[in-house]
Amino acid sequence: MVAMKKVYIKTFGCQMNENDSEKVLLLLSGEYEPVDRAEEADLILINTCSVREKPEHKLYSEIGRFRDIKEKRPDLLVGVMGCVAQQEGEALIRRFPFIDLVLGTQGFYNIREALKRVKLEGKPVVLTELREDFTIPLVLSKGSPQKRVKAFVTIMQGCDNFCTYCVVPYVRGREISRPAEEILTEIETLVKEEGVREVILLGQNVNSYGQKERGYPDFAELLELISQIEGLLRIRFTTSHPKDLSAKLIRVIAENPKVCKHIHLPLQAGSNRILQRMNRKYTKEEYLDKVTKLREQCPEIGITSDIIVGFPGEREEDFKETLEMLEKVRFQEIFSFKYSDRPFAAATKFKDKIPEEEKERRLKKVHEVQRRITEEVYGSYVGKEVEVLVEGVSEKDKTKLTGRTTTNLIVNFTAPRLDLMGALVKVLIEEPGKHSLKGRYVETLVS
Ligand code: 5AD
Ligand code: SF4
Repeated sequence: MVAMKKVYIKTFGCQMNENDSEKVLLLLSGEYEPVDRAEEADLILINTCSVREKPEHKLYSEIGRFRDIKEKRPDLLVGVMGCVAQQEGEALIRRFPFIDLVLGTQGFYNIREALKRVKLEGKPVVLTELREDFTIPLVLSKGSPQKRVKAFVTIMQGCDNFCTYCVVPYVRGREISRPAEEILTEIETLVKEEGVREVILLGQNVNSYGQKERGYPDFAELLELISQIEGLLRIRFTTSHPKDLSAKLIRVIAENPKVCKHIHLPLQAGSNRILQRMNRKYTKEEYLDKVTKLREQCPEIGITSDIIVGFPGEREEDFKETLEMLEKVRFQEIFSFKYSDRPFAAATKFKDKIPEEEKERRLKKVHEVQRRITEEVYGSYVGKEVEVLVEGVSEKDKTKLTGRTTTNLIVNFTAPRLDLMGALVKVLIEEPGKHSLKGRYVETLVS
C-alpha cells in the first residue's frame, strides 16, 4: 500500500468556510489524510475570509509561517482557498510566489485536478472562475469511525443582495441553491454514517432558498422535508435576511418540533436612513414587526443579530437608534463590528467615513448595552428546565457534559453518567455563566 500523504488545513471565517474545508478533506481522502501540525504536512491549505478587514489581515500574518516551512521543504505544496483567494486570484501568487494553488469559492471542488496540474506543469494553478450556472457538487461523507453529533450542510451559496458594505456577492458569486434531493441525500448519509443528530443548514441568505430555481421547494418547505428524516433530532439554519423572512417560515419555526427555536437575523443598523444606504431593503419598523410575529407564535425563540457601527455617514442620532433597537428587540446575543471598507463594495466609495476612534467608541457602547441585555436573558433561564442535545464532555471541566438548548445557548451540566453524547436530555438551569448556562441533569428524553 502506498503511504498516504498528509494535508494540514487552516480555516478562517464563517461556518460555510468550515464546511468547505470539510468538503476538501473528503475530496482528498484516499490520497491525503488530515494532520494537526503544518510542519508534518505535504500539502498546506489556508481557507480564507475577507468579509471584514480583520480576518483578511489574519491570512497575511499567518502566511509567512508557511513560507518558512516551505523554505525548508521545497516539495511541500501550499494552497490558498476561500474568499481572499477568490478576491485576489493571480495577485496572491505575485505577492507570495511560493503559493502553488489559488482555489476560489467554486474552484476548490476541482482540487484533485488542480494538484495534478501543479505537478505536471510545475507552476502555480489559479482556479477563480465564478459561473452563474455553477452546480454545487454532491460530496458525500464516506462514514467515519468517529461519530459526531452535529454537522453543517450547505444548502445554497452566493448572494444577490448587494448590501453596500459587503464583499460576499463578489467573492461567492450569484445565489445558487442545491436541489432538495441532494440536500436530503447528504443529510441522510450524515445521520446514517456518522450518527449526526443535528444539522446546521448554511447559506448567505437561506430564506431565499429555491426562489430563483423552477420546481424547487421554498425554504419553509425544505425544512419540512428535512424534518421527516428519521434519526435526525434538530435542524438549525443560518443566515436569514430579514426582508425574506416569510409568514410561512415563521409558522414552520414555531410549529415543527425538529426546527430549533433560534434565528440569527442580522439587523446591521437601527436607523432607516443608514439601512437604506446599506441597501438592506427593510425599515426598522418592518424588522420589529417580524420580531413581534416571531415572538407571538414562538414565545421562547432566541433571536441573535449582527450590528455594524460607524457605517459611512452614520450620525450620532443614527447610532442612538441602533442602541434603541437593542433595547427594543432584546437580542439574546449579537456580533458587532466596526465598519471597514471592502474591495468592490459600493460603500467603499461613500464619503463621510467615520473616524476610527469614533467607531471604537460606538462599538464599546454597543458592547456595554448588549452585555447587560445578554446577562438578563441568561438570567431568565435560571430555575427552568430545558432540552439539551449533548455534544460531549465539557473541554473546560471534564466532570461535566456540554450541549445546547434549542435556542442555541451552551449549557454545561453535571450528570450521573458522562456517556450521553448525542442524547437529548432535560437539564435544570441553576446559574447563568458569562457565555453559557450551568445546570444539572434531570432525565433523558431520547437516548
Ligand atoms: N464592515 C464591517 N462589518 C461587516 N460585515 C459585513 N461586511 C462588513 C464590513 N464591510 C458584517 C455584517 C455581516 C457579518 C457577517 O459581517 O454584520 O452580517
Ligand atoms: Fe452580504 Fe447582504 Fe448578501 Fe449578507 S445579504 S452576504 S450582508 S450582501
